[in-house]
Amino acid sequence: SAVVLAYSGGLDTSIILKWLQDTYGCEVVTFTADLGQGEELEPARAKAAQFGVKEIFVDDLREEFVRDYVFPMFRANALYEGTYLLGTSIARPLIAKRQIEIAKQVGADAVCHGATGKGNDQVRFELGYYGLKPDVKVIAPWREWDLNSRTKLLAYADEAGIPVAQSKRQDAPYSTDANLLHISYEGNALEDPWVEYSEDMFTRSVSPENAPDKPTYIEVEFEKGDPVAIDGVKYSPADMLAKLNQLGGDNGIGRLDIVESRFVGMKSRGVYETPGGTILLAVRRALETICLDRGEMHYKDQMMPQYAELIYNGFWFSPEREMMQAAIDTCSESVTGTVRAKLYKGNVIVVGRKAANTLYDDRLSTFEEDGGAYDQKDAAGFIKLQALRLRTLKVAREKK
Ligand code: ARG
Ligand code: SIN
Repeated sequence: SAVVLAYSGGLDTSIILKWLQDTYGCEVVTFTADLGQGEELEPARAKAAQFGVKEIFVDDLREEFVRDYVFPMFRANALYEGTYLLGTSIARPLIAKRQIEIAKQVGADAVCHGATGKGNDQVRFELGYYGLKPDVKVIAPWREWDLNSRTKLLAYADEAGIPVAQSKRQDAPYSTDANLLHISYEGNALEDPWVEYSEDMFTRSVSPENAPDKPTYIEVEFEKGDPVAIDGVKYSPADMLAKLNQLGGDNGIGRLDIVESRFVGMKSRGVYETPGGTILLAVRRALETICLDRGEMHYKDQMMPQYAELIYNGFWFSPEREMMQAAIDTCSESVTGTVRAKLYKGNVIVVGRKAANTLYDDRLSTFEEDGGAYDQKDAAGFIKLQALRLRTLKVAREKK
């Protein structure tokens, strides 16, 4: 029997690799995904080989990640609890999917991940696994082993001959997770939600204070709900997000400091950098305002919190998420056009929008002569009937 391990090449998953070999005595297959986390992946391959791993998978999933996960999610304008852009949540189902594909390919009966027993990620990985391979065996070392402190973990690493970088020996600074959409920071100094984050933590953005004093103008072009070009230059999905990250990061955009409600029940404090995603959300929404009918837009907005919660809680591969996605995708068909925005010291300021199929009709909205497009007299009856119940109510309530 064999187990497919989601392997980053870092200290924790290296310890897990060794622990799996020691504890289960089974063949370990490693899988390392490039989701745009900005780390070299070849060292992970070399490390796995050093542990005697025979089947090593290293996959570049960047385009698939943005095209089939990030962009579909952005079509919903998804935000969890009003603020979180779901940067980690949206990556987990893709990792789970690929891990299960590999398990099927190599004939492994088990899969393993390095998420703790306290967080959301364990749920997301495992709902993905079970949904795609109902009989799979899941190994979650953090819930099983007794290496429940940093000291014990490092002792285990020492014994196993796993090199531990000097900085890790002191205190691991933050728990982070990174991909093309975001980087997250949790734990340690951030565990007191009253204490401000330290500026040197950030890796993807300058602070708004240090951003340029001059705004950067951009024009983002959309086709059927997704961004395809910036300032007339076409980009693939992954390149588009990378370009938006650079523009956002340079202008101090996309930092977020929140306390969120984890699925398993506790509150946790997280700090995030999502520069490109923050721009994308703002400009996409601006385009929707002229491409979508009020009914479409409001219905979509009602669905959004539930859609976002499904993704946060790990139910990407669920029938209800797919039903909502179908509805969202249908109305995204008409979101084609261009938005102009200026990026300035942490802000995305939309200054223009246009679309060939725009619903904006200046004959209808003008304060000037409209040439008979709209008859103001119609409004009197419209308002009078809307008021009927309010008037009836007032009269009835005042009777007693
Ligand atoms: N709290 C965020 C979420 O649940 C980020 C989790 C980051 N995960 C990690 N393994 N560091 O989506
Ligand atoms: C973890 O517990 O592994 C990270 C945090 C989370 O999943 O919410």
